[in-house]
Order: sequence, then C-alpha cells, then structure tokens
Amino acid sequence: MRTKIIAGNWKMNNDISQTTDLINGIKSAIKPSSSTIAIVCPPYTSLMTAQQLIKGTSIKLGAQDVSLFDSGAYTGEISLPMLKSVGCEYVIVGHSERRQYHAETNEIINQKAKKVLSGGLVPIICVGETLEEREKNITSQILTTQVKGVLAGLSASEVEKSIIAYEPVWAIGTGKTATKEQAEEVHLLIRTLISQLYSSTTAEKVIIQYGGSVKPDNAKELLSQPNIDGALVGGACLKADSFLAIINAA
Ligand code: 13P
Repeated sequence: MRTKIIAGNWKMNNDISQTTDLINGIKSAIKPSSSTIAIVCPPYTSLMTAQQLIKGTSIKLGAQDVSLFDSGAYTGEISLPMLKSVGCEYVIVGHSERRQYHAETNEIINQKAKKVLSGGLVPIICVGETLEEREKNITSQILTTQVKGVLAGLSASEVEKSIIAYEPVWAIGTGKTATKEQAEEVHLLIRTLISQLYSSTTAEKVIIQYGGSVKPDNAKELLSQPNIDGALVGGACLKADSFLAIINAA
C-alpha cells in the first residue's frame, strides 16, 4: 500500500507570526499516523521558523521552488543547499503558477526535479491541463507530454522517490474541484504512462497527489480513489482545522 501524503502549499501567505500560529495549531491536534505523511510548504522567509516549530513532531518541511544553481549571481533565487540547511525534505517544482508567471517549461521543471533528487530531497512535480485544454478534449495529450517532459532522463528509482501532483489549472483556487471520476481518470492515465515508460513496479510505487480546491468536504471521496495517493492543498491548508481535517480524511 502506498503512503498517503498531504502537502500544504502556503503559496505567498503568512508572515512569521501567522506561521507560528498556524504551525502551533497543526501541531497541537495532529494525530500520529503510520500511513499518512503531512508536509508544510511555507514561503522561504518562514522556513526557519516552521522548521524550529515542527522539531520533534511528525510534520515534514517542504519548499515551494528551488533554483537550478547551487550558488552565485542569481538575485532573488534560493538554492538546494540552502533548503537542505534549513531542514527541507521536499520541494514543489513546476507549480502551474510558476509555469504561468515565471515561464517555467517542462524542460526547466525536469532540471529542477533532477536538482532536488541529486541532493537527496523529494521533488513534488506538478502537472495539469488548463480549462481551454480540457474543453478542447486534449487533456490526455497534454498530460502525456508534461509527464514525459518532466520525467525525462530520470531513472526508475528516482521516479519511485518522486511525488507527482496532478493539479488541473482550472481547479486551482477556483472552488471548482475535479470530480473524483475526473481526477481518478487522469491519475490512472499518469500511472499507466509511468508503467509504459518504466515498469509496473515503478508505477505501483510512485505517489500521485491531486491538487485543486481540495477541502475537508471533498477530501475523503478524492482520497479514496485507487490511484489518488494524497493531496496538494492550497487555500484549505492556511487554517489548521481544515488542513487537519484533510489529513484525517486520508
Ligand atoms: P487550492 O487548494 O487553493 O485550489 O490550490 C491548489 C494548489 O495550487 C496547491 O498547490
């Protein structure tokens, strides 16, 4: 059985005092679980605070992006060694907001995933179609191109260590969740593709999260689908009670 992994992508939210309140809220009520992993991905400025607060708990730390370079003249960027030094174990790469606002391509995302794996951390690699693409009935082509592109050159063992997050762009921050059938269909497509590109063993091991308006009231039905192994949560991870309810639904 695959572990369920629930990650909270805080995006550009929470200063230090809000970070402290939110982590304390999660920490005070999280139940120990051997089958679920909870990850918080605060903005860079809150990583250190979050890391200190989660010490001794089961909560894991992730970052929202990483530079392709380890150090040097890259103003505004944060490197993998820096993320490691603050205690990050996971890094989101290729979020659709990075694709949209920072022109990140499958190729760049692939390089970032390789960078994260080279440092022994786990990339949460995002894929997903836009509304226009879904309406044109090209969801499966888009997902196939994205998955092949972001995984290019990764070994089977690297893919097995990675997390893939299917986030339909039209469901992000819109309140419009994919139905459990729509999400399961794409998750199965991704797993089948990985089985063809690698092997059924690799496909069975890889964690595929769903993201896009996951809330306490839809988490259970999404997470009970056979190919949905967790959630990448945006808005609902900013309140301790709703994030905890999603963790408990897993
Ligand atoms: P929402 O849960 O706010 O739709 O955001 C999803 C997301 O983009 C997580 O990375």
